[in-house]
Amino acid sequence: MSPAFDLVVRRARVATASDCFDADIGIVAGRIAQLGAALAPGLREIDAAGRVVTPGGVDAHCHLDQPMAPPVRMADDFDTGTRAAACGGTTTVIPFAAQHKGGSLRDAVADYHRRAEGKAHVDYAFHLIVSDPTPQVLASELPGLIAEGYTSFKVYMTYDDLKLDDGQMLDVLAVAREHGAMAMIHAENADAIEWLTRRLEAAGRTAPRFHAASRPMAVEREATHRAISLAELVDVPILIVHVSGREAVEQIRWARGHGLSVFAETCPQYLFLTAADLGLDDGYQGARCVCSPPPRDKANQQVIWDGLADGLFTVFSSDHAPFRYDAPEGKKPGGQEVAFRHIPNGIPGIETRLALLYSEGVLGGRITLERFVELSSTNPAKAYGLHPRKGTIAIGSDADLVIWDEREFVLSNDQLHHAVDYTPYAGQTLRAWPGMTIAGGEVVWDGRDFHPRAGRGRFLPCGAPTLRPRPR
Ligand code: URP
Ligand code: ZN
Ligand code: ZN
Repeated sequence: MSPAFDLVVRRARVATASDCFDADIGIVAGRIAQLGAALAPGLREIDAAGRVVTPGGVDAHCHLDQPMAPPVRMADDFDTGTRAAACGGTTTVIPFAAQHKGGSLRDAVADYHRRAEGKAHVDYAFHLIVSDPTPQVLASELPGLIAEGYTSFKVYMTYDDLKLDDGQMLDVLAVAREHGAMAMIHAENADAIEWLTRRLEAAGRTAPRFHAASRPMAVEREATHRAISLAELVDVPILIVHVSGREAVEQIRWARGHGLSVFAETCPQYLFLTAADLGLDDGYQGARCVCSPPPRDKANQQVIWDGLADGLFTVFSSDHAPFRYDAPEGKKPGGQEVAFRHIPNGIPGIETRLALLYSEGVLGGRITLERFVELSSTNPAKAYGLHPRKGTIAIGSDADLVIWDEREFVLSNDQLHHAVDYTPYAGQTLRAWPGMTIAGGEVVWDGRDFHPRAGRGRFLPCGAPTLRPRPR
């Protein structure tokens, strides 16, 4: 008689967003077929030995091989980026197909498929970035793409090549409402940043650390409030991405208190870095931690932890934006140490996202294991229409699993699998790391070695978002 399962993960301490329980997990054809005690034998057996098993992570905000203006280029493509994701326990990634101004959204999607196809080691979906909402985009391209499974898009209130004005924001939010898409908003006031940047430059303050001074919390607070107000006018849910500290958090609490459906994302950099990581003097090293919004201070880190614990935050993403530090295509464009306004924004984090949150959040006693799963896997899958195929351990779901090893070690970049030459978290003591990552029933990371099968990652068309607003 042939075995009942392709794979059985035995003696798992299964954690979902709602419960923890002991079970064997039976897998057939890449999906979870049975959960229970003493399951029949599998063709292959893995003994979890009572260790915690969570659903594979869903990283719903990461940038991979996103076209940049030369000479700048992202270090990670779909091969190295999803390799790093898998080794860090993430089995689904949602990067961005970005329209450039004057270009077509459909062309951006087609180009992005070419970049991903045959390269990804884990499953992937695409968000769109809408930077040029022409009548054609609003009436035809965007609704068409939403219907085809691109059900979320990001809009920017800053960056010259991406930003929308308020009228354009209202236009795209109206499309999100009519067609049931999720709008993700980068909330920073572009004019205020430009004004502050010019003043800093006039005073000769161009070192990386002045990036933080050019984007103070008021800039984020004002844009967050404006985004909330625009969404209220249109009567549509929104998700504010990469929230950095108290002032934006207060706006989101205010919106929830008024019954508005405002979801929120935060990222590791707002828990583990501060503005001091951009430099205490005029040295260039701080360019490594230049991202927007910038990291704040210790008190704001606590505000973010509180929001993770009490339900303010909906999702926890990496915002992996991979630029090499010592490279002419990275943080030193053309080989030069440049003024902060020209430093490519973003930091790497696709591989370290889950271990940082598990170590300091769960094992540090700040959030429950269930909340960890909700933030890092279940809610992102729901927000972007991938649940219950992704984001949970349930019969019928994809067999995407992480078996956790709880052990202490000091992180260094040479342990990581991205193509970036640094991690901003080097030197951080971690208390856990994925001992095994299983994607679609295949072991892709065994705690020591990565098991590549380029092209094993499939494109996932997304359904409608299924997140429910939290009760006030
Ligand atoms: O600095 C950041 N966050 N860079 C990545 C692009 C974005 O705005 O998310
Ligand atoms: Zn952003
Ligand atoms: Zn981003």
